[in-house]
Amino acid sequence: MADKQNVETTGIIGWIDTRFPLTSNIKNHLTEYYAPKNFNFWYFFGSLALMILVMQIVTGIFLTMHYKASAAEAFASVEYIMRDVFGGNIIRYMHSTGASLFFVVIYLHMFRGVIYGSYRNPRELIWLFGVAIFLCLMGEAFFGYLLPWGQMSYWGAQVIVNLFSAIPFIGPDLSEWLRGDYLVSDATLNRFFAFHVIALPLVLLGLVMSHLIALHEVGSNNPDGIEIKAKKDKATGIPLDGIPFHPYYTVKDLVGVVVFLIVFVTIICFAPEMGGYFLEANNFVPADSLKTPAHIAPVWYFTPYYSILRAVPPVMNSQFPGVAAMGLSVMVFALLPWLDKGKVKSIRYRGGLYKKWLAAFVISFLVLGYLGTVPSNVWGQFAVNMPVIGGADRATVVARVFTVIYFAFFILMPWFTSADKTKPVPERLTG
Ligand code: HEM
Repeated sequence: MADKQNVETTGIIGWIDTRFPLTSNIKNHLTEYYAPKNFNFWYFFGSLALMILVMQIVTGIFLTMHYKASAAEAFASVEYIMRDVFGGNIIRYMHSTGASLFFVVIYLHMFRGVIYGSYRNPRELIWLFGVAIFLCLMGEAFFGYLLPWGQMSYWGAQVIVNLFSAIPFIGPDLSEWLRGDYLVSDATLNRFFAFHVIALPLVLLGLVMSHLIALHEVGSNNPDGIEIKAKKDKATGIPLDGIPFHPYYTVKDLVGVVVFLIVFVTIICFAPEMGGYFLEANNFVPADSLKTPAHIAPVWYFTPYYSILRAVPPVMNSQFPGVAAMGLSVMVFALLPWLDKGKVKSIRYRGGLYKKWLAAFVISFLVLGYLGTVPSNVWGQFAVNMPVIGGADRATVVARVFTVIYFAFFILMPWFTSADKTKPVPERLTG
């Protein structure tokens, strides 16, 4: 039974509390969970991610009511949802816009973790659960993208599944096994549907629960990167710089929710396709296995990694180095807690060396992201006004330079974090 202090004994709540840890959980995780008092806007993105997750599940359930997971009917069923189902267009746009904004929010959430050193001891496991969530989210978006069965769905899946065939020895068999056929087909659509609507959402929910359990075990970091548990009130044992999560941060997070919803509704009403960045024009054309589109490019949130794939040249006619580099560019985030040797956690107390490297990384991520949106044949056209450098066009050279900077950020991190001239960290939060 729950701790006596945390239990009601009378009324309905008392009846529940003797059978289920309701009051004790509300206290432990909300009204008596002490969060640092100096959270800023960067701390909105965790709760926003949680809200979008719920929204994606709810809109997904409604879409599933009219969607047909078959190669013959999928495209038409999505058009039916858009044109004939009452509110169907809004639900579909909520789901497609939600997917893109999910990645915006997650990238900002991860960046917050980086600038405040939230991945450092004792929060390594929160971060590792986060990286697993990120991988799972990428899978979820990839599987979902095949479902409308448009040209981009079809050929995007074809390209990505084919990447697996570059893996030595097992590659070709592996990609055939993943597709369930020799080419992307009805069997592929059915299994992607199963992964998208039940398998990955279940894993995601489990990972998000674990992420939050780990967070509440060690407590939140904050913009100063100071452990508030180090300075507690002697009488009450409450951190001197902590305030109850509820009502203070539940109310503050509502401000983030309102701002997010204004942006979200504006996009859905005025630019649901976002000029082709959220929904591509080619995906309003039914899938045709005999007609390869001229430009096959992934949705914007995958483009930095896609650029890395294209930047790495084949070795002995094998694409494997590019595929491996792309995989590494995502997995490498998991190593951050061990690569960062800095004496301080937060960027507020770091020196110039760290800040310059972080800026170089952000710029390389953005440039690679942009280059990934440019179709391959246009990459070639960048070369028109430029002499060919080492057999590669200008866009490829730029992508290679930024790929090197991207990886250098991680490889050199032990050096530039330990050599950095840090500032003294105050004993208590600065406000
Ligand atoms: C579905 C996706 C996710 C959800 C719903 C989620 C949710 C949350 C929430 C509610 C918090 C506490 C509030 C806050 O600090 O903003 C949090 C903290 C945190 N999350 Fe996530 N998260 C997700 C993905 C990720 C990812 C992909 C990463 C990193 C790879 C990550 C790393 C962290 C870290 C390090 C903290 C602790 C931050 C601190 O204390 O300063 N999360 N997350």
